[in-house]
Amino acid sequence: MNKYIINGGKPLYGEIEISGAKNAAVAILPAALLINGKCTIENLPNISDVKISCDILSKLGAKIEWINNNTITIDSSSVTEFKAPVDMTSKFRASYYLIGALLSRCKNVEVGLPGGCNLGARPIDQHIKGFEALGATVNVSNGKIQASAKNLQGTSIYLDMVSVGATINIMLASVLANGTTTIDNAAKEPHIVDVANFLNTMGADIRGAGTDVIKINGVKELKGNTSYSIVPDQIEAGTFMLAAIASKGDIIIKNCISEHLDCLTAKIIEMGGHVEEDGDQIHVWADSRPNKANIKTLPYPGFPTDLQPQIGVALSIANGTSIINESIWESRFQYTNELNKMGAKISPQGKTAIFEGVEKLSGAPVYATDLRAGAALIIAGIIAEGTTELYNLSHIDRGYENIEEKFRKLGANITRVIEED
Ligand code: UD1
Repeated sequence: MNKYIINGGKPLYGEIEISGAKNAAVAILPAALLINGKCTIENLPNISDVKISCDILSKLGAKIEWINNNTITIDSSSVTEFKAPVDMTSKFRASYYLIGALLSRCKNVEVGLPGGCNLGARPIDQHIKGFEALGATVNVSNGKIQASAKNLQGTSIYLDMVSVGATINIMLASVLANGTTTIDNAAKEPHIVDVANFLNTMGADIRGAGTDVIKINGVKELKGNTSYSIVPDQIEAGTFMLAAIASKGDIIIKNCISEHLDCLTAKIIEMGGHVEEDGDQIHVWADSRPNKANIKTLPYPGFPTDLQPQIGVALSIANGTSIINESIWESRFQYTNELNKMGAKISPQGKTAIFEGVEKLSGAPVYATDLRAGAALIIAGIIAEGTTELYNLSHIDRGYENIEEKFRKLGANITRVIEED
């Protein structure tokens, strides 16, 4: 089992560059299946969720060529296969986008039920409701989802809850449908806008992405022959902003979009940190222990659940007692048990956790319970006194490109150890 050994206790200083957004990339890759031709995707994060998405597209008949570490070309002109390998799709959550994409492309799809981080129940009823409203028949059995349609017909779909995945999946399924589809109560995350921009660059007609009403006017085909650069990863940028605050460090974060992080910036200032925005870079620093703060996670533009564990680490050493209310994922507080092994005093109870700030954390063996928990525990190891051994790195590799190199560049003492099983 691989592990990180982190010798902590030093503030982080320096500059790092943010990669392309994981959550945009894992939607844009299946979206490329809709194109009758070749497209180039730039600023693609080189992470394991992206590699497995590319492998699945290749199995479906797309021709993929890596131009460099972060740029690929995809030619989907000869894709006719509609069954995605179950063992591959069950490895990550975003494989659900293959349903919308293949339904659109082939009017037929068979995909294994999506896997990914264990954050509690992760239903996809709103995705299915959308596909059915567009005219598809959907069957879920034996760990697989099958869907087919003679024709996809534009319609109005109201989402019962704000869902990132359902919003994007319905966009994918309706891009080539007859007529207009309207998604009401749509999610507004930056990667939803990015997927819509990608599809529009390829010839789609999607309006209103980034608001809660999205209109998709069906087009006959998407042509490609052009390139698209993925938006910077808002969650990766936020992870480094919180690492700066928690370590009492000073970091310049380059290649990011500061508006996507407004709610985090406000919280960091409330916690006594400093933030200066300058074009596509954010300078974050702190000269004292963080102040206590209360957090409630919400859909964008609210505080992102994907930054909850990382801010939890900063609050675990804050001056005073803080409360986090998690409104999206019921099992998102699993990391708090690991932080408590490092000396934190956190009491999770259902959707709420109380963080009684301690002066310092101490190194300990801990386990990444999911992707963002893994990033949070790296920060915890960096600010703790002594040595932390962090296990389950495959979660972290799913979503962060070169994370240990980036932290090392900022002065962290972090080493990956590859152990034979
Ligand atoms: C996406 C992100 C994930 C992030 C989450 C919330 C990707 C690949 N993943 O996940 O990192 O934590 O948004 O910002 O982009 N729900 C239902 N039925 C549905 C769909 C969702 O009840 O059909 C519920 C979920 O259980 C959850 C909430 O709605 O409580 C939001 O889920 P959703 O926005 O769909 O999350 P994902 O797209 O899975």
